Amino acid sequence: MKKLLTCAFVIAFAVPGGAALAAGPSVPVDDANINLEDTTSLQRGAEYFFQYCIGCHSLEHARYNRIGQDLGLTEEQVAEKFVHTRDAAGDPTGVGQLIEIAMRPDDAEEWFAQPAPDLTLTARHRGPDWIYTVLRNFYLDDSRPLGVNNATFEAMGMPHALWELQGWQKNVGEDGHIELELVEEGKMSTEEYDEVVRDITAFMTYVAEPIRMEREAMGMYVIGFLILFTILAYLLKKEYWRDVH
Ligand code: HEC
Repeated sequence: MKKLLTCAFVIAFAVPGGAALAAGPSVPVDDANINLEDTTSLQRGAEYFFQYCIGCHSLEHARYNRIGQDLGLTEEQVAEKFVHTRDAAGDPTGVGQLIEIAMRPDDAEEWFAQPAPDLTLTARHRGPDWIYTVLRNFYLDDSRPLGVNNATFEAMGMPHALWELQGWQKNVGEDGHIELELVEEGKMSTEEYDEVVRDITAFMTYVAEPIRMEREAMGMYVIGFLILFTILAYLLKKEYWRDVH
């Protein structure tokens, strides 16, 4: 019986854990430390995303106005801060639309060896820590077609979209070991840049699972209800037993 129980335990817990590990990133990543309850961080992340990433990456499963609602912004604010694309008629894209890339896909494919992937679900399968690390690990590398490589994503086909902010890093490691050092300052200090990347990562994590915020809020209501219910049940019990004693 004990053996049977042990087996059941191992199957129930070890297998999903192992599978999750196998699917996870194999290179060491830094802790993104994001806070999805920090709405201003998500708003800043969204603003950076629509400024620096939308040229190449779509968020095809998300709509502008839904993001606005979740981040506490009016439709006017969304249109002003986030919408930088135009529809086929040349008018600014409506806030009810799905989020498409600002560049024509054909151009993107021509300019970069591969089209940039849609990023709606990336945080779900790569994980926030991986995104946070990749965006901080670009470095100059003459051997690459775009002159830039990535310590976390070897031979990545993406240019360093945030170089203006971070500046440029170089690999000063030896014997195939990668060690990055800032050789050209950007507009921001390393701490400020890390904060920007944290905000973008938080925004991408929210976009990958917008329902999570609702679920967490709902969880708080349920816990509140249970506490109230327990108090009521206790008072009721006391009331009933008073006559018995
Ligand atoms: C000039 C075009 C361009 C811009 C701008 C750009 N990217 Fe990319 N990005 C790419 C391309 C191309 C790839 C595919 C690289 C590959 O697979 O080698 C990519 C890949 C990625 C990936 C990896 C996706 C995966 O799962 O493999 C992430 C994450 C990413 N980009 C995030 C961003 C963020 C965040 C921004 C804005 C700060 C941004 N990108 C701006 C072109 C771009």
